[in-house]
Order: sequence, then structure tokens, then C-alpha cells
Amino acid sequence: MKTAVIALLLILSLATNALLWQRVSRLEAATTSATPADFPLGENMGYLQRCADKIWFAAQAGNWPLARYYHDEMAETADDVIHAKLIKEGAPVSANMSAMLPPALVGIDQAIAARDLPSFRSHYTGLIQACNACHAASRHSFIHIAEPTHTSDFWNQQFSPQP
Ligand code: HEC
Repeated sequence: MKTAVIALLLILSLATNALLWQRVSRLEAATTSATPADFPLGENMGYLQRCADKIWFAAQAGNWPLARYYHDEMAETADDVIHAKLIKEGAPVSANMSAMLPPALVGIDQAIAARDLPSFRSHYTGLIQACNACHAASRHSFIHIAEPTHTSDFWNQQFSPQP
């Protein structure tokens, strides 16, 4: 009887081990097969575009915590692109990102901290120039970003600080 119980426990623990081993190797395969080629650069760029647009309206509306939020999202997105170590069509995309976007975000960061709209506006021009300079350096000069000329009604979001 005792031996049967021990044998059963042994079988159970072996079966659990086998299941765990299977799961670990599946996870390993999933993480090691992610190559720079899988990095969704276009989607990240779409997100940068959205944040670059919204930060403008947040600052115009004097909603500095919201502006800070979009600044941080852009900084994190830049970090993700940098860590993906991308070289696309011969262009060192991650190296270009590292050289161009974080430096352009420094002035924006300071303007937000100081709640200084004129300073924000001048650094915003620098930010858009950095987007386009990097597109040119990364074989995508045909993607040209501009400062927003539309109104915030375009978005289903209120940018002004809520009472
Ligand atoms: C590495 C330098 C680099 C920087 C900095 C950069 N981009 Fe890009 N961007 C690219 C590359 C490369 C592509 C092409 C992506 C692809 O085809 O996978 C791209 C594509 C795009 C696209 C096309 C994707 C779409 O959804 O229409 C937009 C929009 C865009 N970038 C916006 C921006 C904005 C806004 C900024 C600045 C806040 C910016 N980018 C900064 C390199 C950069």
C-alpha cells in the first residue's frame, strides 16, 4: 500500500516536471525567436506621431501633467527602438534614434517642468525637426512630420485640465 502511494506520488511529480519542462521550452523558443526584424517599428512610429500631436494640444491647454505623460511615452518609445538594435535597408535606425530623439526631448522636458509655453513651442519645433532629420538619415525622407495646424476637436479627448 505504502509503496503504491509513493509510486503514485513519484509518477505525479514526474508528470508535473514534464509539463513544466514543456512550458519552459515553449517560452524559451518564443523569446529567442524574437529578432530585430520582428520589432514593430512602423507601429512605434505611429505611436510617436500620436504623442507628438497630442503633446502639442496638452501644452497649448496648459495641461502640463498630460504633456509630461506624452513626453514620457515618447521617451519610452525611443528607448524601445534603441534597444531593438535595428538596421533597416542599411540605415542604422536604432543608432540614429539614440542620436536624435532623446536630445530633442530634453528641452521639451525642461519646458514642461517650468510650465513655460514659449519655451515649449520653440523646443517643439526642434522635436519635429529631429523626427524629419531622422527620417532623412534612415532612408524615409518621404515621411515628413509637421507642426499641428488642425484643432484639438479632431481628437475625442479634452486636453484642458479638468476641474
Ligand atoms: C530612427 C530615427 C527616427 C526618428 C527619431 C523618428 N522616426 Fe519616424 N520613422 C523612422 C523610420 C525608419 C520609419 C519607417 C518605419 C518602417 O517602415 O518600419 C519611420 C516611420 C514613421 C512614420 C510612418 C508610420 C505611420 O504610422 O504612418 C511616422 C508617422 C513617423 N515615423 C513619425 C515620427 C515622429 C512623429 C517622430 C518624432 C517624434 C519620428 N517619427 C521620429 C525613423 C525615425
